[in-house]
Amino acid sequence: MMKHTGLSVFLQRQVQDQALIKVLEALARSCVRISTSLRQGALADVLGALESENVQGETQKKLDVLSNDMLLHELAACGAVAAMASEEMEDPVLAEGNAPYLVVFDPLDGSSNIDVNVSVGTIFSVLLAPKASELTDPCVWLQPGRMQVAAGYAIYGPATQLILCVGKGVHQFSLDPLNCQFVLTQESMQIPQTTAEFSINMSNQRMWEPPVQKYIDELLQGKEGPRGKNYNMRWVASMVADVHRILTRGGVFLYPLDERIRVQGGKLRLMYEANPMGWLVEQAGGRVSTGHTCILDMRPERLHQRVPVMLGAAEEISYLEHLHQKD
Ligand code: AHG
Ligand code: MN
Ligand code: MN
Repeated sequence: MMKHTGLSVFLQRQVQDQALIKVLEALARSCVRISTSLRQGALADVLGALESENVQGETQKKLDVLSNDMLLHELAACGAVAAMASEEMEDPVLAEGNAPYLVVFDPLDGSSNIDVNVSVGTIFSVLLAPKASELTDPCVWLQPGRMQVAAGYAIYGPATQLILCVGKGVHQFSLDPLNCQFVLTQESMQIPQTTAEFSINMSNQRMWEPPVQKYIDELLQGKEGPRGKNYNMRWVASMVADVHRILTRGGVFLYPLDERIRVQGGKLRLMYEANPMGWLVEQAGGRVSTGHTCILDMRPERLHQRVPVMLGAAEEISYLEHLHQKD
């Protein structure tokens, strides 16, 4: 059998900074623990909802909270993380004052899918920390996506995989369930420039803005329409799973603004969904946009800020931006 490169060996080869390696190994350990809990599922009584709501008014699942706790524990213990912020916590948590990194995460993405045994994930973004004396300033988190030092996600599907970028390329690791180690299974994932597959929640169609209405309408016209080809559609409702499909076989993913979510500014969160996933997509040759501007260049205004997201095949995102300019 072919000998695969383990995550630790890969990190020692690719990353100079030992502190960053500690952070990434702590993230990987958290994902292994979350994966184990998910696989135990009903047997460990970890499915279902809690009474509580998170900062965004969403009902928390037991596994949202468990995953959050596992990440907080592993990251605080690694000694290289100054503070952590999460979808599930209103405010950041301080860890090691003089440590060099901040980590922001979505501990369990797509959590409405847990109880129906469909793929979910964990998304994370690693940023540089300021001096210890500045750590309590909320502005230290508001760094544009382009300043990410590392980002990635774990997908808990038929197999558990870790997709990681440390600044150059996007690499896929698969969890060997026999020894709980991630091994490199694909280097330099690439998203084709064009596609015939799109991903959007069609139930919101009547509430989208005109450029998105026009775009999807053209795709739906298929071979007989202006795009001259038939398109396929997929929507898992776990961003991790939908983006994973795009990194694996191409496509375009949209969670645009619609009337229902206009006041919130979008559905997906900038700091721990759009930025890390957008950076991976760009690193794999795709593009990420709000329709008007590249998401990675936005200066965040709030930790839990939401944003319209369009990402994937570069030509499709450029066409979407063209439609938004004309509007
Ligand atoms: P989370 O479970 O972390 O709150 O994220 C859910 C997000 C994202 O994963 C997915 O793309 C989207 O919500 C699905 O939204 P709809 O249910 O509106 O389709
Ligand atoms: Mn999410
Ligand atoms: Mn979540």
